[in-house]
Amino acid sequence: MAFPSDFLDEVRARHPIANVVQKRVKLTRKGRLLLGLCPFHNEKTPSFTVYEQQDTYHCFGCGVHGDVFSFKMQTEGLSFLEAVENLALEAGLTLPNLTPQTFEAREKKKTILEALEIATDWYEKQLYQSKAGEKVLQYLEHRHLRDETLKSFRVGFAPEGPSSLINFMKERGFEDETLVKAGLMIRREGGRTIDYFRDRLLFPIFDKRGAVIAFGGRILGEGEPKYLNSPETEVFHKSNTLYGLHLINRKNLSNHPLLVVEGFVDVMMLKQEGFQAVAPLGTAITELHIAELWRLTPTPCLCLDGDLAGQNATFRAAERALPNLEPGKSLSIAVLPQGEDPDSLIKGGGKPFLEKLVSAPQHLVDFLWERVFTNEVYDTPEKRALLEKKLMSLAETIKDLSVKQYYKAAFKSRIFEVFSGALYGKKRKNDLLQPLKKAKVQLNTSALKLKILFAGLLNHPQMIYDVGEKLAELEIIDKNLIKLRDEIFFALNEHRDLDEVSLKHHLNNHGHGKLVQSLLSETIYVHAHFARPHVSIDMAREGWLEVWQHLLESKLFAEDIKRAQSQLSDAMSSQSWKRMQLLFNQAKTYKQKSQETSLNQDSFPQPSSNVKG
Ligand code: UTP
Ligand code: MN
Repeated sequence: MAFPSDFLDEVRARHPIANVVQKRVKLTRKGRLLLGLCPFHNEKTPSFTVYEQQDTYHCFGCGVHGDVFSFKMQTEGLSFLEAVENLALEAGLTLPNLTPQTFEAREKKKTILEALEIATDWYEKQLYQSKAGEKVLQYLEHRHLRDETLKSFRVGFAPEGPSSLINFMKERGFEDETLVKAGLMIRREGGRTIDYFRDRLLFPIFDKRGAVIAFGGRILGEGEPKYLNSPETEVFHKSNTLYGLHLINRKNLSNHPLLVVEGFVDVMMLKQEGFQAVAPLGTAITELHIAELWRLTPTPCLCLDGDLAGQNATFRAAERALPNLEPGKSLSIAVLPQGEDPDSLIKGGGKPFLEKLVSAPQHLVDFLWERVFTNEVYDTPEKRALLEKKLMSLAETIKDLSVKQYYKAAFKSRIFEVFSGALYGKKRKNDLLQPLKKAKVQLNTSALKLKILFAGLLNHPQMIYDVGEKLAELEIIDKNLIKLRDEIFFALNEHRDLDEVSLKHHLNNHGHGKLVQSLLSETIYVHAHFARPHVSIDMAREGWLEVWQHLLESKLFAEDIKRAQSQLSDAMSSQSWKRMQLLFNQAKTYKQKSQETSLNQDSFPQPSSNVKG
């Protein structure tokens, strides 16, 4: 529905820009201009300028500009249509194109929304006031969701049914048709009706103004489907709804990145812990979702589950975002540890880790590069050309010419970086990967290399199987590092699938906190990107092995590097594995002797096993 331009002029005329802005920003006059503190970025001296003559505004600090409509859109997160509607209604203008049919449709929608609101209220009461609700509250407590969090998300409980809600709604005067259209009731063959949600924990889903438009219902305990969402209705469209959007604090988005996560509980847990997050509803992230996110912030951060599905979903979202990238408008990516979601990470004590992760997420361009540049050996011109082709075709989808060119340039320069240095003759994968990994391993000292190895392993303990024996083999002089190594081996030997958060906890609890902190710092990372927490495990492993090899070469095989390289892997493994076992055992004995505080569950917070069910 497009508005006629004279209608828009009429709305503009009723709302001088200064009046609209003044509702949110205190303006002071400077000659012909009005100045104030910009509502779109944090500033101490006013650079937000209102031009009354032109009916526009411009900020010299962050570059935003526009008219009354865009001001409404940007400050209240409305679409253009909604902004016009709101302003028109405020001014008492009748909207054009409002035929009797659309009027009727509006009234129906209103009734549906009313029904959903009343149902939400009833479901909430079932949670807090019914006998059956008690065990559900216990479950929520067990998931570490606090009362005020539950209240602000209006969490409820749908009893067993089969028609508890229907009965209540009928008493309140709602008709079958409305209940079906609201997605609250199913009509079976033969006309029998039944509650849509039965015996489920209910998460109301809101539109951005905070009206309930649907529900997500989680099964209590095991069963399928784990989550049941309301069907698509006149008021609920999955493809443009983001869970948690209505609670986002726009003002805080300059301090807290806007995270996009997978699940209801992730959103709630993050909100509870002071993060800002939204989630799509069990479906892919669509273009509409991305557009909605960009209305809030220039660079939302994708923070999906740390499994293969999560990474694939991230890539698909990235692909969808590409065409619409604009100067200054992008996505960033925070890669969670394997098997974790934000909820499990926080519950396992990983909040500081998560904070760090999302404060320095990966750029979209890096994410794409790493995704396309696989572990393949790029040893022929054809393979390299194919790599380039894949990257260029991604960049080619970007509509904005300037952004497109920069992507192409970035990819090309990386390709150049990787393949420069006449590597054609060599076959070793590590050699080919070296410059690419941005490892920038320009290391002067063995000490630094060693620290890098520790940092990499601490951030990616899963690679212990690939690198453990190699680390065991290294001669270390620093006593503290030796102790740290022993403790790491000990911990990982006892708990084979310990994740990095738990490992760090353990080390912290055993007196290595300071050393670990100094290892996991920017001073180390600047020399070796792969050691950072958010990089992929493959990249971390490649980088690690490479540095390890450098270290080994400089120490042991200086005279004949080439021969050593080719013999290295076969010759070492059995012997060094034994050595690692020996170290394991030594560490164990040492522990038993020197400490009465034996290892207990507390020093090993389990990653996420206690969350499910
Ligand atoms: P997950 O399976 O990752 O669940 O689904 P979760 O969020 O970690 O749930 P908890 O922590 O076990 O309670 C992520 C999201 O995918 C959608 C839901 O929106 C869920 O929050 N989903 C999942 C469905 O729509 N249906 C399903 O059967 C499962
Ligand atoms: Mn979860």
